[in-house]
Amino acid sequence: MGPPGAGKGTQGELLAQHFGIPRYSTGDILRDARRSTTELGLEAQRYMDAGELVPDAVILGIVEQVMSEPEAAGGFLCDGFPRTVAQARGLAEVLARDDLALDAVLNLTVGVGEIVSRLTRRAGLEGRTDDDLQTVRRRLEVYEEQTAPVLEYYRESPVGVTNVDGTGTVDEIQARLRERLSA
Ligand code: AP5
Ligand code: MG
Repeated sequence: MGPPGAGKGTQGELLAQHFGIPRYSTGDILRDARRSTTELGLEAQRYMDAGELVPDAVILGIVEQVMSEPEAAGGFLCDGFPRTVAQARGLAEVLARDDLALDAVLNLTVGVGEIVSRLTRRAGLEGRTDDDLQTVRRRLEVYEEQTAPVLEYYRESPVGVTNVDGTGTVDEIQARLRERLSA
């Protein structure tokens, strides 16, 4: 978990490699769907370009599908999901069906100034269509309104939330995450 630009993708990729498990980024799955202009991609595009969330039913459909793949049997890492309390409840149902539980909820904390600087820099380098300043601001608002409550949801559940400082070098942050997971 973490706001836009917190480093979920960067750190999630390294953690998934370390544990030898797949990483499921709903954002990456949606961007792939857009590139291959599938029905899903076309539906998601207008939400993503506006910095809004794609509807819960669409996301839960994707997540159920990836989690039923054989590669998910040894565990998996979710990046950028769940992003609403409804998604968190949906995930809990999917997990309970297979008698599974979350091992940890990791939350990368990064201040707004650093986020805006990271993402607007990436807009220049990679041209991600939702990294212009106006859309970044909207993504941050959406995060506060719809995703921050997910942290409350997990804080009140047995798994809890592990906050990890998301500033510093990529290696420093990765070391912090692994340390917290082994604690
Ligand atoms: P998504 O793709 O999840 O985007 P996001 O949450 O806005 O996050 P980012 O991918 O931009 O950032 P990140 O935290 O992964 O950081 P990263 O490692 O890339 O979602 C995009 C859209 O898809 C949403 O707006 C929504 O429309 C839709 N969507 C996705 N999931 C959904 C869901 N569950 N429900 C509904 N809608 C959904 O790093 C960011 C940048 O910073 C990079 O350039 C990186 O190189 C740099 N960086 C990383 N670490 C550091 C560091 N330590 N120091 C300096 N720079 C760093
Ligand atoms: Mg990402």
